[in-house]
Amino acid sequence: MENEKIKVPDPIVNIIDLSLYYGKTKALKEINLDIAKKKITSFIGPSGCGKSTLIRCLNRMNDLIDGITIEGCVKIDGQDIYAPAVDVTELRKRVGMVFQKPNPFPKTIYENVVYGPRVLGINKKSILDELCENALKRAALWDEVKSRLRVNALDLSGGQQQRICIARAIAMEPEIVLLDEPCSALDPIATAKIEDMLVELKKDYTVIIVTHNMQQAARISDYTGFFMMGELVEYSVTSEIFTNPLKKQTENYITGRFG
Ligand SMILES: Nc1ncnc2c1ncn2[C@@H]1O[C@H](COP(=O)(O)OP(=O)(O)O)[C@@H](O)[C@H]1O
Ligand SMILES: [Mg+2]
Repeated sequence: MENEKIKVPDPIVNIIDLSLYYGKTKALKEINLDIAKKKITSFIGPSGCGKSTLIRCLNRMNDLIDGITIEGCVKIDGQDIYAPAVDVTELRKRVGMVFQKPNPFPKTIYENVVYGPRVLGINKKSILDELCENALKRAALWDEVKSRLRVNALDLSGGQQQRICIARAIAMEPEIVLLDEPCSALDPIATAKIEDMLVELKKDYTVIIVTHNMQQAARISDYTGFFMMGELVEYSVTSEIFTNPLKKQTENYITGRFG
């Protein structure tokens, strides 16, 4: 790819010549980019350009799909996450994920948040209580739900359900949180709450978000990658992408001329 690889400070993820095929279809084409630690990085681009495929590569969620081939390399903290010795369960603890549609379990708020720690064998109530409170505070939901932790999570609003899912991811104390269009099912007020929360979250976590909402990328992210048809067209500091893009395709996209 002719694109100059930009240098980000303190990279936690290195994506090196990464290609992914679904069967014979090449959905990611030699992607090269580094992701800065404790920053928000967003991936934007038209539907079908490979954004979800790419973030699923970062915690090996694509492993669950039949018929894929991956070439190249993804390193997290310098370690190749596709190396044979890697424990995928351990990896997914370090790299949490939140999806487009809020998907809380049909359980209480409390049990949703402490689900992961319980699976890890943590049973002591005082520890789980503390984990639950901390994660809900991080997800900016504590004040809204602290008096009703035994309510079924499915009885909450969509925005609250999405914050439950974020709290559930955070309760595992990941290094990196991946979010695939987390606000696309939410109204503007719920979206604003999640955006504010993600900006707080980056004090301690690396946040990688796929969004079809360019304003969202412009508002919250430090770095933005623009993709088209499986290629990384341009990757830079967010303000550069939105005010001074180097590529014509980027300019066309951000000015709404297609996509
Ligand atoms: N499980 C799958 N099997 C086959 N093709 C897929 C699968 N998931 C995605 N694709 C294809 O890969 C391309 C990229 O898809 P995706 O990563 O979902 O894009 P985006 O998230 O940017 O909309 C699309 O052409 C899509 O049809
Ligand atoms: Mg997608």
